[in-house]
Amino acid sequence: MTAFPPGFLWGAATSAYQVEGSLDADGRGRSIWETFTERPGAIEGGGDASIACDSYVRWREDLDILSDLGMRAYRFSLAWSRVMPDGRGRPNRAGLDHYERIVDELRARDIEPIVTLNHWDMPEALMADGGWMGRSSVDAFVDYAAAASERLGDRVDWWITQNEPWIIQLLGYQLGLHAPGVRDLRGAVTAGHHVLLAHGAAVDAMRASTKGRIGAALNLLPCVPATDSAADAAAAWGSDGYVNRWFLDPLLAGGYPSDMREHWERATGGPLDDIIRDGDETAIGGRSDFLGINFYTHRVMAAAEVSEDRPFPWQVVGSTGEVDRTDEGTEIVPDAFRDLLLRVHHDYPGIPLMVTENGAIYGDSPTHDGAVHDVRRSRYLRAHVAAMAEALDAGVPLVGYTHWSLLDNFEWALGYRPRFGLVYVDFRTGERIVKDSAREYAAIVAAGGLIDADGRRGPVVDSLGAFG
Ligand code: FCB
Repeated sequence: MTAFPPGFLWGAATSAYQVEGSLDADGRGRSIWETFTERPGAIEGGGDASIACDSYVRWREDLDILSDLGMRAYRFSLAWSRVMPDGRGRPNRAGLDHYERIVDELRARDIEPIVTLNHWDMPEALMADGGWMGRSSVDAFVDYAAAASERLGDRVDWWITQNEPWIIQLLGYQLGLHAPGVRDLRGAVTAGHHVLLAHGAAVDAMRASTKGRIGAALNLLPCVPATDSAADAAAAWGSDGYVNRWFLDPLLAGGYPSDMREHWERATGGPLDDIIRDGDETAIGGRSDFLGINFYTHRVMAAAEVSEDRPFPWQVVGSTGEVDRTDEGTEIVPDAFRDLLLRVHHDYPGIPLMVTENGAIYGDSPTHDGAVHDVRRSRYLRAHVAAMAEALDAGVPLVGYTHWSLLDNFEWALGYRPRFGLVYVDFRTGERIVKDSAREYAAIVAAGGLIDADGRRGPVVDSLGAFG
């Protein structure tokens, strides 16, 4: 049994667009997601985020739930377009007031605020210059980050500049499945580069107004070969470059990995020098105080021919045989989680790691007793906490874990069907019901994470009858 360090940041996560609603309140500007959700067929079920969890209004209720569960941290994001309604120019005071109230209320409850700046809701006005494809997005982001830090920097000790640069690049600009719905390979690699450049520039700008620790959150997916063939091993390594190293290396190891740069140059038909300019890699690297890791699953990879729809010589094939899966079919692989934490620590030593997202889709809803008995989420949680305990034992400098998500919410292009919450939300009424998994999590937190290595709760937790 491993005890987590005393100051470990146990918490839960949300993002503004997925929970807030009130899209026109208090001077908020339009974001790229309003435009995207209006596209016919873009969102499963045709929903939008105009109400979502109504957290812009019900935020105190959300914080009450965090307090009741004994959470030590809350990861949430500022809506970029509440702070900078037109993308540039003067910040909107009312938007900042809202987040200041949340931060102050969290502090009063002894819950550490972990603030994300860009959780995908870029102001629509910035599309005039191509969104993240335009290099001027970097300056716009710096203005926003500086405004946020000037207002909140004395009270926020943990900042996340960018959430999941790869997903922004891939779903937003390569496959067009997320806002702004662009499908352009070269545009995608350009956008991803600007997201990283904006991280570096924002960190530099924020240092003047905060002593807080600043990092970015990457979604990392261990890539494993489907067979023991050399070709599949190469596919897995290539995929690792595409998904993981393309972002890890410039942030933490001084520059883009050359193997993946060659893949990108071949796939996009030319050198990337006009995109990744002299000095850019120096402006991205060496600035992060910690790394956020969002972990959901792994990728099982096989070699494949490059084609019109497949720019790189690999494909995801998935596991065969009996594998634990979420209700969405996602493979559940806690051992891969532990190994990933060990690997990141080994390859990028010295940087504190925070698990900024981890969670699963389970569709459980209230039963006859009014409760949500999501036993599979509890099991998932215990297994991933056990994986972190093993990583800590092996010396990984892990500082926190914010489960995705506090609430069932607007899951982007998938709409409201997938439920990731520790707390059930009735989207017709806004009512919140704390699920069994949240009580289980509360018990783990209260016990400082003391559980058996195989994920069963130990006697310390069992004695906490209050959560029964
Ligand atoms: C991550 C996102 C988060 C949520 C989870 C399920 O990619 O950061 O907003 O959608 O996945």
